[in-house]
Amino acid sequence: MANKNPFTIPIFFLYCLTTLLSQTTSKSTIEPCSNSDTCSALVGYTLYTDLKVSEVASLFSVDPISLLLSNSIDISYPDVENHILPSQLFLKIPIPCSCVDGIRKSSTTSYKTRPSDTLASIATAVYGGLVSADQINEANPDAGISDPSVLNVGTKLNIPLPCTCFNNSDNNLPAIYMSYVVKPVDTLSGIAARYFTTLSDLMNVNQLGSPAIKEGDILAIPLSACASNFPKYASDYGLFVPNGSYSITASDCVQCSCGPGSRNLYCMPASLSVSCSSMQCRNSNLMLGNVTTQQSSAGCNVTSCSYGGFVNGSITTWLYSSLQPRCPGSQQFPSLIAPPTVVPDSLFAPAPSPSESGGFPTTTPKPSVVPSSGSGIGFPPANGPAGSALGSSDACSLMNNLSSFSAMLTLGLVFKFIMSIPL
Ligand SMILES: *[C@@H]1O[C@H](CO)[C@@H](O)[C@H](O)[C@H]1NC(C)=O
Ligand SMILES: *[C@@H]1O[C@H](CO)[C@@H](O)[C@H](O)[C@H]1NC(C)=O
Ligand SMILES: *[C@@H]1O[C@H](CO)[C@@H](O)[C@H](O)[C@H]1NC(C)=O
Ligand SMILES: *[C@@H]1O[C@H](CO)[C@@H](O)[C@H](O)[C@H]1NC(C)=O
Ligand SMILES: *[C@@H]1O[C@H](CO)[C@@H](O)[C@H](O)[C@H]1NC(C)=O
Ligand SMILES: *[C@@H]1O[C@H](CO)[C@@H](O)[C@H](O)[C@H]1NC(C)=O
Repeated sequence: MANKNPFTIPIFFLYCLTTLLSQTTSKSTIEPCSNSDTCSALVGYTLYTDLKVSEVASLFSVDPISLLLSNSIDISYPDVENHILPSQLFLKIPIPCSCVDGIRKSSTTSYKTRPSDTLASIATAVYGGLVSADQINEANPDAGISDPSVLNVGTKLNIPLPCTCFNNSDNNLPAIYMSYVVKPVDTLSGIAARYFTTLSDLMNVNQLGSPAIKEGDILAIPLSACASNFPKYASDYGLFVPNGSYSITASDCVQCSCGPGSRNLYCMPASLSVSCSSMQCRNSNLMLGNVTTQQSSAGCNVTSCSYGGFVNGSITTWLYSSLQPRCPGSQQFPSLIAPPTVVPDSLFAPAPSPSESGGFPTTTPKPSVVPSSGSGIGFPPANGPAGSALGSSDACSLMNNLSSFSAMLTLGLVFKFIMSIPL
């Protein structure tokens, strides 16, 4: 009597299973953490409208010069901070990645609300899907947001951004990770080609079971980088510079570059006109970045004056001498570009890859991009472990993990139940 239709329960389980498996929520890569250290990371950001360099910098609470150098944009360009960057331009934004409630997250960004902002518009339009409305809401318990579509103008909101450190290494080589929001035209192999990595590496890093990705997913992309070896007490300890770009440090006095062709960090005095302490190596007439070579029968005696970190407000230098088989050529620098005024095609065209060679036309992105909702639908954050304050996409990722477990449990139960039906 209790069970008129013996198939009700299996059907219910199957229904749950299908729903779980077909959820169209965005995935995002989460790195659990326990210590309080911070690493440098990047977020990939596509401008939602024309913005000045300084406006983009303030959107992410970063220094405009760091922003420009991360993108190899020439900082000596006149009035560069007021230069207007075009809508749809893709930029790499340098952000500090720390550990918040057991998860890697960047928590230094804040946003001041403007008229007609809603949490959803801030999340999907302004921040391009890097954050969801729910995550902003959870990160601002004291902002008194009762209705996410009605915000008091001028409210300062913390914007948690996704980031990963993964020990600043990838396959045992130095790397810096960029959080990237998948666009409709993207394929995983295209992304791998664009960022000089491989499909399998991207799948490993993001724990993907298949190369299928969809719009709005947030991937961690390892970018090959040059590592510094500054002492722990240096304020720029842990500086990593991605291949093909620059970074400024030591109160804007020292500029370091990485690549092309070499994984050695190369630092020299920065071109900004700021007053800096001496950058001459002790007991030498060499300046920071100078390399002298002396060919002898034994080989090439290479002496260099290298940067050793910013300690207590002063620039430390190291004089190194070594005997090398061959004299090094002159230092190569990543090429600098003028501040863009138009969106370069190559930034949008998916990099050619075998799977795309079938003539998929290079689609121009929609002029007003409103990335599909970054906020998870369907998975209440309450599914997270008790007491954890996971954002919705965190909860989704957790649920992806949990769902595989519950899927197996369900299958097991269904199987057991069917077996127990008397025939
Ligand atoms: C992190 O990388 C350093 C060297 O870069 C290594 O010594 C250390 O063991 C790594 N730690 C972990 C947890 O992988
Ligand atoms: C560094 O970037 C250059 C292009 O700027 C590329 O040719 C090279 O393969 C990259 N190196 C690594 C290790 O990713
Ligand atoms: C040494 O470095 C300074 C500052 O970068 C530069 O002006 C100078 O030309 C360099 N000298 C040599 C010999 O490389
Ligand atoms: C290399 O040159 C430096 C400075 O010019 C000198 O002090 C050092 O003794 C030389 N080393 C060798 C092995 O010749
Ligand atoms: C930095 O300065 C503090 C006090 O001003 C001093 O205690 C510390 O030893 C200094 N550190 C280094 C590495 O010189
Ligand atoms: C969840 O993910 C963690 C790490 O990614 C893994 O160790 C664990 O086995 C997974 N649990 C389930 C139920 O899939």
